Amino acid sequence: MAVASGVVAQPLFRAPVGTRDLLPPESARRRRLVAVFADLAERTGFGLLESPIFEDLGVFQRLGADNEVVTKELFEFFDKGDPPRHLALRPELTASVCRAFAEHRPTQPWKIWYSGPQFRYERPQAGRYRQFDQVGVETLGTDDPHADVEVIGLGLRFYEALGMKQVRLLINSLGDATSRPAYDAALAAYLRSRRDELSEQSQITLERNPLRVLDSKREQDQPVIAEAPVMADFLSGESAEHFVAVRAGLDSLDAAYEVSPRLVRGLDYYTRTTFEFVADALDTAQNAVGGGGRYDGLVEDLGGPATPGIGFALGVDRILLACDAEGTFAAAPAPVEVFVVDTAGGQSAAVLCDRLRQAGLGVDRAFDGRSMKAQMKRADRSGAAVAVIIGPDEQAEGAVTVRDMRPGGGQRQVASDDVVSAVTEILAEEA
Ligand code: HAM
Repeated sequence: MAVASGVVAQPLFRAPVGTRDLLPPESARRRRLVAVFADLAERTGFGLLESPIFEDLGVFQRLGADNEVVTKELFEFFDKGDPPRHLALRPELTASVCRAFAEHRPTQPWKIWYSGPQFRYERPQAGRYRQFDQVGVETLGTDDPHADVEVIGLGLRFYEALGMKQVRLLINSLGDATSRPAYDAALAAYLRSRRDELSEQSQITLERNPLRVLDSKREQDQPVIAEAPVMADFLSGESAEHFVAVRAGLDSLDAAYEVSPRLVRGLDYYTRTTFEFVADALDTAQNAVGGGGRYDGLVEDLGGPATPGIGFALGVDRILLACDAEGTFAAAPAPVEVFVVDTAGGQSAAVLCDRLRQAGLGVDRAFDGRSMKAQMKRADRSGAAVAVIIGPDEQAEGAVTVRDMRPGGGQRQVASDDVVSAVTEILAEEA
């Protein structure tokens, strides 16, 4: 747009729809959340996998040919190769973990944790974004029900570590290759018998994948779903035993759960154990703060050897919304312990900051040669426990003034060589 002066105004860009800038202190809070998760996961024997943010499109097509995550929500693109490669931003990480397992063939069980952004072209709303963060774990190479219990238990302990009290665990078993066909047939027959009562969308889903109709959140479908046959009545002996063992394991941890016989998940790879963590502090549309289950066929689908697997992914964005609603795990500004005030030109501040930071302290300073008063105001606002002040007088004497910023705290002059010990002394007193 041309303005009177003839200067062309630049367009004001905004973050793309469904994405957000995460500013401090919220960004620091997320990092803290990931650190809590990393600590728990690593103490449970999981190692970090960092896999690419984009993969060959084929990796994600294995998530379900008729699944909306694959058919509608992938961010896909071609690279500049000759011939071009068809790639996609990852919508989740389980497929990447299985691809990495098939590629590297690590020793089993392979216990992996991860964190990072995922991408789904969904209709954005509160708690639903096109770029969102997950943390998660996957255990590959064992179908021991205790592995299921370890994974689910880790999820529960994580929510607890954040101080969340209103998270419920829902579990179900989706059966295995021997139990599934009979159930799928019974479910399809039932849904067809009540086809006219279903929403238009669910009628289409029914023809492609009857199980996915159970995942519909549409009001109109609920009465039909409520009376649908349940997997529990069709489980093979082995699947039923596995589910009993998982429940017994959760009982032994005193983990509260609800068996939710019609719980199916949004992705198609699940077998046997499936579960979801639901935050009651959030609106029902977006209250799933995490979910997971077994995917005993996925590695094989990705060209690897037949390998059982179980894991979960937790939605960081929704967890933080739920923490807000519960009033826990608050955002805290990054702590600065020391603020350096320099009215002697700024060079001394640079040297002092460097020295204090090298001693491991959190240190900030002002710029632009501001007045003493303005700098002290910044020092106050920084929340620093100690101010280190250097003006022309101190500079001439090779000294600094160290001030305890607590109400009524004193100050004293020390040789600038002794600044680290003087500051640490005050910090130790405060602690
Ligand atoms: P998912 O249920 O698709 O499972 O996603 C897990 C969690 O990610 C959800 O419970 C939710 O908290 C969060 N989430 C999903 N989509 C969005 C979105 N658009 N905006 C904000 N948060 C979102 C998986 O991704 C599987 N990979 C989980 C798994 C791991 N299964 C086995 N291993």
